[in-house]
Amino acid sequence: MPLYRSRPWALPASAVTPESLFMNRRSLLQAISTMPLLAAGASLLAPGNALAAGYPYPRSSAYPPERAETPENLATTYNNFYEFGTSKSVAAAAQALKPSPWKMVLDGMVEKPLTFDAEELIARMPLEERVYRLRCVEAWSAVIPWTGFPLAALVKLAQPTAAAKYVRFETFLDSSMAPGQRQFWQPWPYVEGVTIAEATNDLAFIATGAYGKPLPKQMGAPIRLVLPWKYGFKSIKSIVKVTFTDKRPVSYWEQLQASEYGFWANVNPEVAHPRWSQASERTLTGERVPTRLFNGYGAWVADLYKGLERERLYI
Ligand code: MTE
Repeated sequence: MPLYRSRPWALPASAVTPESLFMNRRSLLQAISTMPLLAAGASLLAPGNALAAGYPYPRSSAYPPERAETPENLATTYNNFYEFGTSKSVAAAAQALKPSPWKMVLDGMVEKPLTFDAEELIARMPLEERVYRLRCVEAWSAVIPWTGFPLAALVKLAQPTAAAKYVRFETFLDSSMAPGQRQFWQPWPYVEGVTIAEATNDLAFIATGAYGKPLPKQMGAPIRLVLPWKYGFKSIKSIVKVTFTDKRPVSYWEQLQASEYGFWANVNPEVAHPRWSQASERTLTGERVPTRLFNGYGAWVADLYKGLERERLYI
């Protein structure tokens, strides 16, 4: 995803969270433990342990990948994580990421803003494994066994108000850890967004692991989004903030190049990227395979876009 425009004015907003958003640990646990979807009796683990606890989790058969799983050594060494550089070989640089402790905020149009550590959240969520196809807008693809929980569970925890229409996600902002963020003309932090309807679709997944282990740093530890019917850039890594809003979020890529990277970014082989075809893709094992509408997940998501045909659904 070559970067074109320099926008010196597009400096990142401050990541400082107002004191009023903070919530103590006991209140968080009360909030989470009232959720019926959580495993009864799950207990809080000591700091640092929850990220690694319980792996591997049971694999769901509800989302057949229909292609061979990408070998772990390929999926963990060919990555996009611009915070750590623009090449695909960011795994070594990404080892500077510190996934624990990892403060997260749920805020915006919600009943009550929540602040907690990712470990507390993960320890309380119903983890499962799902094997999903991942289609990057650059026309490479992989098949990855993710561990995590439905994004719908996070929406439920947040209790958005009726006015909320979108969910906005934000990656950490720390240029001392992530040298890519010293590129001041890029609109850090990385931001992505979806509608509430998309966020509560069965497929929308928050990943905490891959290949039966906690997420490797280069894949977005400790917690990331996975939206398999959309181009991979929507699947934001290393999330620190989830905000419910009535304004359509403008993503990192949309800020950089709106004509090439839009809000919807649903996979469609018939709608070319302005600079290349999307008709086929190259797997990380080197095969060329046809690309499918919604990356083959139309049965789950096509209905989300009825009535939205005038939108740029595939850019
Ligand atoms: N999230 C952040 N924060 N920074 C990034 O550079 N790259 C995106 C997405 N999430 C990116 C990100 C892109 S372009 C893709 S294709 C996927 O992550 C790649 O995920 P993977 O490296 O785990 O395969």
